[in-house]
Amino acid sequence: MNSKIVFALFSLLAISIAAQGATTINCNKSGVCNDANCGKSGKVENWQVSGTQCVIADCSQLTITGATISTNACTSCNSNSKPANTQANSSNTACIAKSNAKLLVASATIAILALLF
Ligand SMILES: *[C@@H]1O[C@H](CO)[C@@H](O)[C@H](O)[C@H]1NC(C)=O
Ligand SMILES: *[C@@H]1O[C@H](CO)[C@@H](O)[C@H](O)[C@H]1NC(C)=O
Repeated sequence: MNSKIVFALFSLLAISIAAQGATTINCNKSGVCNDANCGKSGKVENWQVSGTQCVIADCSQLTITGATISTNACTSCNSNSKPANTQANSSNTACIAKSNAKLLVASATIAILALLF
């Protein structure tokens, strides 16, 4: 493999690791992860502690009827099968995709570097 390909693969790996890291939310206050600290997470409190951060315990609770959710909850439930960054819609009842400026910038950077090398 030439260095161009190795570099492109490495960059892709780095980006996918960074994207996965977005699933924990930095909202615990003295170790407490709840709706008051992190934002609505379904019909009932649905946050759990993950290390020093918080994460949604059950992402399926975000889509049940009558659930109220927050952008934090949507962000926490980003996953490999749902890679687009998501945010709550304006009535806080569904997670919708938002354009990910960081990923766009990162892929543009890779494209430019690949041309240069
Ligand atoms: C988050 O929770 C952990 C304990 O699980 C605690 O050590 C840490 O200080 C907490 N972070 C904040 C900002 O309170
Ligand atoms: C948010 O999404 C839900 C589920 O798709 C939909 O029923 C609701 O009307 C949406 N709210 C707004 C303000 O678009």
